[in-house]
Amino acid sequence: MRKVNYDIWAEYLYMILKPHVPPNPNVLEIAGGEGNIAFYLEKEYNSYLLTDLSHEMLQRSESNLQKTVCDVRALPFKMQFDLVLMIFDSINYLLTKKDLEAAFRNAAKVLKPGGLFAFDASLEENSLKHIIPVTCERKYGKIKYTHISAYNPVTKVHKNEFLIHDLDGRTYREVHKQKIYTQEDFFLAIEKSGLHVMHCYDCFTVNKPRKNSKRIQFILRKSYKHA
Ligand SMILES: C[S@@+](CC[C@H](N)C(=O)[O-])C[C@H]1O[C@@H](n2cnc3c(N)ncnc32)[C@H](O)[C@@H]1O
Repeated sequence: MRKVNYDIWAEYLYMILKPHVPPNPNVLEIAGGEGNIAFYLEKEYNSYLLTDLSHEMLQRSESNLQKTVCDVRALPFKMQFDLVLMIFDSINYLLTKKDLEAAFRNAAKVLKPGGLFAFDASLEENSLKHIIPVTCERKYGKIKYTHISAYNPVTKVHKNEFLIHDLDGRTYREVHKQKIYTQEDFFLAIEKSGLHVMHCYDCFTVNKPRKNSKRIQFILRKSYKHA
């Protein structure tokens, strides 16, 4: 629902990944939702599999790409990919460190030796402005909705609640919970996975993360020694 410049985001990803990705890579996008990033990146990468936990989200995608429902905590693929993507806070939807570690292990399993896993994460600096819940009324096409954003610094859970008012006067409620991990949490979870950190950027730049970065972008590589 949030307005995001996916064209700029896709351009950034393509730019930072280009030096490391082999020609004609096969790409797996995890938690790809409605295919917002895929819409742009499928033009750059010929082989692109769009996946998400939610069938409903995938159905909303208008793209003709191959789509599959799957959970990053239990990826079902036997084939391996050159590049795995997980974009726009999707990693924050994993609410426990156990799930976070499972995601990295699974990404390692479905990558070819030398393959890359690129993901971004929203950090606490991005959430702290919502300690007192922030409510906004918004429009998505003709649909009006209320967005309530609240962050609990004790549990480190950021809750986004959407009250969606349809044209027939009905209201639907959708709640998204995100766990806000520290930069160190990510490094520790990655350490156990068979992947290593090639780059960690302050998101949308190629600079190192700052103490007060709002979002970070990781590029991980699977070692060439692992099958
Ligand atoms: C903030 S949305 C981002 C969607 C998309 N990447 C984008 O940028 O538009 C987070 C997505 O993560 C998906 N998701 C949450 N938990 C997941 C899991 N365990 N495995 C795979 N996808 C998951 C949700 O269904 C949702 O589509």
